[in-house]
Amino acid sequence: MSTLSSTTNKNKETTVGVLITRRTLRRLQKQKPSLNIIKLQEANEKAKTKLYMFTLKEIDFNRDIIYGIYFNPSTNRWEKGKFSLPDVFYRRSGSLNQTIQRKLQKKGVKFLNSPKGFNNWEVSLLLLQNKDLCSHVPLTRKCQSFKDLTKMFKRTNTVYLKSYIGGRGKKVMRIIKQPNKAYHCSYFNKHLIEHRVNTFEAFQKTIRSFYKKEFIMQEGIDLLTVDGYLVDMRAEVQRNGNGNVEVTAIAVRRGKKNSPITTHSESYTFDSFYKNVLKYSDQQVSTFKEEVTQFLKKVYEQVEEGYGRCGEMGIDFALDKNNKLWLIECNSRSAKVSLHKAFDQQTVNQSFLNLLEYAKYIAKEKSERKYASHYQ
Ligand SMILES: Nc1ncnc2c1ncn2[C@@H]1O[C@H](COP(=O)(O)OP(=O)(O)O)[C@@H](O)[C@H]1O
Ligand SMILES: [Mg+2]
Repeated sequence: MSTLSSTTNKNKETTVGVLITRRTLRRLQKQKPSLNIIKLQEANEKAKTKLYMFTLKEIDFNRDIIYGIYFNPSTNRWEKGKFSLPDVFYRRSGSLNQTIQRKLQKKGVKFLNSPKGFNNWEVSLLLLQNKDLCSHVPLTRKCQSFKDLTKMFKRTNTVYLKSYIGGRGKKVMRIIKQPNKAYHCSYFNKHLIEHRVNTFEAFQKTIRSFYKKEFIMQEGIDLLTVDGYLVDMRAEVQRNGNGNVEVTAIAVRRGKKNSPITTHSESYTFDSFYKNVLKYSDQQVSTFKEEVTQFLKKVYEQVEEGYGRCGEMGIDFALDKNNKLWLIECNSRSAKVSLHKAFDQQTVNQSFLNLLEYAKYIAKEKSERKYASHYQ
């Protein structure tokens, strides 16, 4: 077992500890890393950082040691190692409770992304506080009783229900109110599932069986469609090695037939979609891209007002049929699915490199996180 130790040397390599699931750990032990881990490891070689992965169980706070797994270039294998606490902590999966977060903070560990993750309700409240962004946030309410839902349907005929914590479209349901007190409910879990319910009782039953926990309700955005398929966008936004916010890539996603969500779909680069599919001129593409970039940077910085400075966000947003921009969801980390699908290797590699360059940047900083962090 190898040991990587931290020294106080100013020029030492930055160590980055990545929190992963037990499933990812088992895959690494079998020498079968996911594409995201392979890309992160390649970026690690380029950035000259020291990268290791671990699950929460492997932290020993009594000795300030983490039993992790790292890639050993001399054997070309993922191997177990004993590591000191990292300079920078990157949460790929799971979330940190406050006790562990505080312990790590006390030991001087910095966080690459939000250690707890974002909550959809908190994020919409944050964005509503910004005068430039509030009109781009769909009407959102907590749903604590069916009365709340009835009230929501007085404002709009299409409502999206979402869990507080997002995740790959699994907990998103679209409801469209039909004439005669009927409702059309649909969601996508491996395939499209649709329920047409004719009574309020049947409607309640459908929702109760879908959500075990609390959820929020959001007015449906009348999304732009192409050949009848819904279209929205996913932006990879990051802080780079100089600490500046950068829009690394914007993918356009086209949903599957009749699907209420665009997740698990076709993806295009921003430029190719607007140029080739929507037939924008080069000038129109670049003007619109600039507008979108400014919008995304504002969203990013506004979310940081609540969660503290972040190294990356996956921002879901869309155009409606009147060409108005809407914010759909902010993710505190990104699975980069659309990035891999739509973009060239150089853009993909750059997005992983940015993460580690930003890790080096924050590792060097003396002060704590710059912004207030209400939601940590
Ligand atoms: N208010 C809304 N109006 C229209 N479409 C929406 C709305 N909310 C979500 N969607 C669709 O559902 C998808 C998944 O919703 P999202 O909030 O991003 O949850 P998840 O965390 O599961 O990705 C979005 O990418 C979008 O296509
Ligand atoms: Mg999403």
